[in-house]
Amino acid sequence: MSTATLTGTTLLTAAQNKLGYESFSIGKFTFERDEYFAHIIYPGNRHIMPIEAFLRALMRDVAWGFFYGTVNFDNVFGTINHYGTVEMYIGLNNFAYRNSHREYVETFQSKDLKKFFESILANWTNEGFDPFAAPEETGEAYGPKRGDNLQAIQRERLAAKRFLGLPGDLKLRGDAEGQPVNRQFTDVSQEKPELHPEQGFESEVHAVNLFAYLSRSDVTWNPSVVSVVHDSLLCPTTEEHILPIIHGNDRVEWFVQLSDEIIWDVEDKMTGAPVCKVTMKAGDVSAMPADIRHRGYSPRRSMLLVWENNDGTLPQRYASGEFKPYPVEF
Ligand code: PHB
Ligand code: FE
Repeated sequence: MSTATLTGTTLLTAAQNKLGYESFSIGKFTFERDEYFAHIIYPGNRHIMPIEAFLRALMRDVAWGFFYGTVNFDNVFGTINHYGTVEMYIGLNNFAYRNSHREYVETFQSKDLKKFFESILANWTNEGFDPFAAPEETGEAYGPKRGDNLQAIQRERLAAKRFLGLPGDLKLRGDAEGQPVNRQFTDVSQEKPELHPEQGFESEVHAVNLFAYLSRSDVTWNPSVVSVVHDSLLCPTTEEHILPIIHGNDRVEWFVQLSDEIIWDVEDKMTGAPVCKVTMKAGDVSAMPADIRHRGYSPRRSMLLVWENNDGTLPQRYASGEFKPYPVEF
């Protein structure tokens, strides 16, 4: 059964369980956690996810404001961004659930669901576990409630006014804060670009070493927006282990593999049926179509440039068939 009514702001917090974790309810969904699992209870049934995978996915959904299109936490549970409202679903993009009419959907105001997710994340993330970090670089998510890690989950995106490093603007990571080069990027050159601005333009022209910037990133699978030109967003990121969500985009998205290697599983967006595997080596470029979902595997820490088109008219134009789901015809 599927419902599409807009749920109000009813946000109930039940009592703590014996392990010290709170339960959270919104609409007809209730979220509970134990030592190992997140339990998602909805009318008629319960879905269960490993807690670590759930928190890693939840962290991205919160940090990215529900992202573009669909954020599948796994093959059953996730959210669809309608840019103002958001659908939270069970089985909506799963062939077997749909075929037996077992899907369940509710629509929320985005700001309400974001606040709700932030509360879960804050209460369920234990001290020492950083949902943004690679598994080798963080403690465990398991066990009874043990402190918290607000510092890790409330990282704020910093926005440059004009350009990193220009007078009066943000300093380049590593220069000021002394953030260390990642253990897997010790071979990345830290050399600064040479600058020769014309006289009078010294405070207008600047350049940074993007590879050096990325080599000092302490998060994984979390694109930074480093350049905005109209709707063109260049979003480089450092990757290690598994993309914590399975992304079903509502537009085309380009990938440029800047270093090392990522293997992508590509599936049909609606059913989850396998479409292909894409192995991207340093220098490879791909366009991910608008009708698929994808998940990347990065065996070593790697650098990836994600190129997004932020034009708000795109979801409707792809959904209506005005645009083909791929950008080029060969
Ligand atoms: C994606 O879904 O396209 C995506 C998300 C986060 C990343 C890389 C790719 O770090
Ligand atoms: Fe994507």
